[in-house]
Amino acid sequence: MTTRRPFVGGNWKMNTDRAGASALARGVVDGLVGLQGVDVAVFPPFPYLLTVASILRERGSSIRLGAQDASDQPDGALTGEVSLAMLRDCGVSVVLTGHSERRHVLGEGETIVHAKTRAALAADLECVLCVGEKLDEREAGRTNHVCEEQVRLGLREVPPEHVDRLTIAYEPVWAIGTGRTASPADAQDAQRHIRGVLADLYGNDAASRIRIMYGGSVKASNARELFAQADVDGGLIGGASLKATEFVAIVKAAAGVGAKAATL
Ligand code: PGA
Repeated sequence: MTTRRPFVGGNWKMNTDRAGASALARGVVDGLVGLQGVDVAVFPPFPYLLTVASILRERGSSIRLGAQDASDQPDGALTGEVSLAMLRDCGVSVVLTGHSERRHVLGEGETIVHAKTRAALAADLECVLCVGEKLDEREAGRTNHVCEEQVRLGLREVPPEHVDRLTIAYEPVWAIGTGRTASPADAQDAQRHIRGVLADLYGNDAASRIRIMYGGSVKASNARELFAQADVDGGLIGGASLKATEFVAIVKAAAGVGAKAATL
């Protein structure tokens, strides 16, 4: 029977310095020693990827190294961009695309989100495609429509053989960094709808295997209830991932809930 192991990511955003990133990585690694049944990734800022990679390697950790962004282009005259090959070279195995801050603060449109998602998956990396509605869209009853459109556009021309490396993160924009978390029932409703869209695109079996994380003001105190929902397969954690003890507690909550059986 298909089951989905929970997956928890720590998105450090544009935070930490070199010493702080090292200390945080060590704290997370040490806090999770011996914990089974959950996949974990950390997404440090680009300049600290190698530092964190060497900490993970020297401690024999299974925590994956993630990148917060990547270019869709292989190389060339693109000042400031970082390619997927460079990231892989630094030990990265998973990439975020479509994060709400890149969409709504830095102005990335659907075309670029799609290009990055497609390129990351084609490069054999895991990809976490982030989707989610803004507050006015939720209030207008458009949550499912917005998420569906972002999933469909983000995955355009992504072939079925690549989606085993895909995770979706449902992150309502109004819940990110605000302290205002979606209720477990609201997260479940949106994520159920997203899984239905995945089933329409790739069939029930594939959709049953694809993990859908929740992100938006997850803390140790609310993680378990969110992760216990049938279609919530872990979380993408921002602010609370900057404290090792808090992040470790969130990962343990996911491990405690355990794998989910296919619901389609
Ligand atoms: P937050 O961020 O946990 O600080 O709300 C989540 C995210 O942006 O992935």
